[in-house]
Amino acid sequence: MEVIKNRKILQDFIERQKEMGKRIGFAPTMGALHKGHLSLYEEARKENDLVISSIFVNPTQFNNPEDLEKYPRDINRDILILENSGLVDAVYIPEVSDIYPEKTESRHYDFDGLEDEMEGKSRPGHFDGVGTVVEELFRQVQPDNAYFGEKDFQQLAIIKKMVEKKKLPVNIKGVPIYRAENGLALSSRNQRLQDNRKEASTVIYQTLKKVNDWFRTVTIPEIKERVTDIFDQQQGMKLEYFLIADEKTLKETDFFYKDRSFRAFIVVIVDGVRLIDNMHLD
Ligand code: PAJ
Repeated sequence: MEVIKNRKILQDFIERQKEMGKRIGFAPTMGALHKGHLSLYEEARKENDLVISSIFVNPTQFNNPEDLEKYPRDINRDILILENSGLVDAVYIPEVSDIYPEKTESRHYDFDGLEDEMEGKSRPGHFDGVGTVVEELFRQVQPDNAYFGEKDFQQLAIIKKMVEKKKLPVNIKGVPIYRAENGLALSSRNQRLQDNRKEASTVIYQTLKKVNDWFRTVTIPEIKERVTDIFDQQQGMKLEYFLIADEKTLKETDFFYKDRSFRAFIVVIVDGVRLIDNMHLD
């Protein structure tokens, strides 16, 4: 596996691959890698000649400086994980100046309102930061296919929207949420949880499953009340939001419509760690 630490070396590498006609699959990350990340490379491996990872903790997508500071970083461990997975041909680990040659700030994006829902409300400026870094990484890596997890469903929708609106030459592929055996969605932030809190956090997945059972027989306001009650009873957990939204527009709904698909979205703070999850309702 090639470890590429600056933009110029990446450029030469990509040029050579393109000349050989290689199809490039790419999945960007912020490191602290786990099996959820690897599931993206597993998908990419099936459909491309070359699989590229990137690790870059993007400062402009953190609206909270403390969150940025506390974000887990262990680059040597990450390189080993990628190497040992046998799934990745090259990892790009840029410096801030490779991505932001001038000012470390985001461009402003219009994602047709997708950015105003859920995480957009909770984390002002977050999706401008994500759009900026992903567009720049696409420009540098020039992937044919790029893979994003449904774990961050709104992010996936926003990247698809950006590619559509800017007519970027890349296919965006969504990959299902990878969960631990107990149902907890794997996340880099889980590292900050004690083992017993990880176990307790499985209530998030249990709740989403219940919501799916209730869906279509219980009204949405009633479902929301039940979910609020569940988390009121959990010690050290705070429900930041729970809602059911249309999968296309991401707009919250209070009613079910037969011909549309819906998804439940949840954010819970467990001992100060922000856990995000979602589930398609069927
Ligand atoms: P990060 O949180 O490191 O996630 C990188 C990719 O892995 C994202 O597409 C995310 O949805 C996916 N992912 C994380 N956990 C997953 C899981 N349990 N199952 C499936 N996919 C999972 O998302 C980001 O980084 C950043 O915003 C980024 C896109 C890299 C831009 O900075």
